[in-house]
Amino acid sequence: MANWKMNPLTPKEAKELFLLFEKKAKKVKKVELVVCPPFVFLNLLKSKSIKLGAQNCFFEKQGAFTGEISPSMLKNLGAKYVILGHSERRKYFRESEQLIFKKVTAALKAKLVPILCVGETEKERKEGKTFLVLKKQLKEVLKANLGQKLILAYEPVWAIGTQNPCEPEKAKEVFAWLKKLFKGKILYGGSVNLENAPAYIKVGFDGLLVGGFSLKKEFAQLIEKLEKLPHTDYI
Ligand code: PGA
Repeated sequence: MANWKMNPLTPKEAKELFLLFEKKAKKVKKVELVVCPPFVFLNLLKSKSIKLGAQNCFFEKQGAFTGEISPSMLKNLGAKYVILGHSERRKYFRESEQLIFKKVTAALKAKLVPILCVGETEKERKEGKTFLVLKKQLKEVLKANLGQKLILAYEPVWAIGTQNPCEPEKAKEVFAWLKKLFKGKILYGGSVNLENAPAYIKVGFDGLLVGGFSLKKEFAQLIEKLEKLPHTDYI
């Protein structure tokens, strides 16, 4: 799953990158490629081989909510997924657990699959609070028994955009813990690149949420690389 964040700057660049990845996506069978571009490019990118996702949505269907995008609008544009609770939204927009849960529920209602991002900060990990934090972030969805309906992305905050990925063995501990609570697919995200990607699949993750590296041409090679591994469903 490619999270393009607030990139690229022009429709031309977005289309070029998308077409490049589409070439590879057409050739693979086991890997499902999902591209999550900024809202403004969603309508320009269509492919039978690539699924589309958004990076956020609002919790109401329609109405006087200036500047917001509804899950139904995303669905009507052809999106299948929506990333929710990303750490950048938690940090820059102070998104709370309550708000994120409202968005998850609204996305499901609109028949989008939420990709719920969870993960601890560096400080929390150092203080031994990783599982406590994850429990808090998952509380509402587990209480509402929505575990089967969404995809989880374990994204340790300290590993995002830092070139300091969580070691696969450490991520595996979290994966195993999450798997006991949660029956749906679980992705890893945080400084994934061509070299380290296979290791996360090998320790059990169902796929990867890739940020910075998904804006590079080499991301196309990653699709191919994962296709050659066993048990790969998503990237
Ligand atoms: P990164 O971002 O791959 O650039 O670390 C991942 C993410 O934020 O989803």
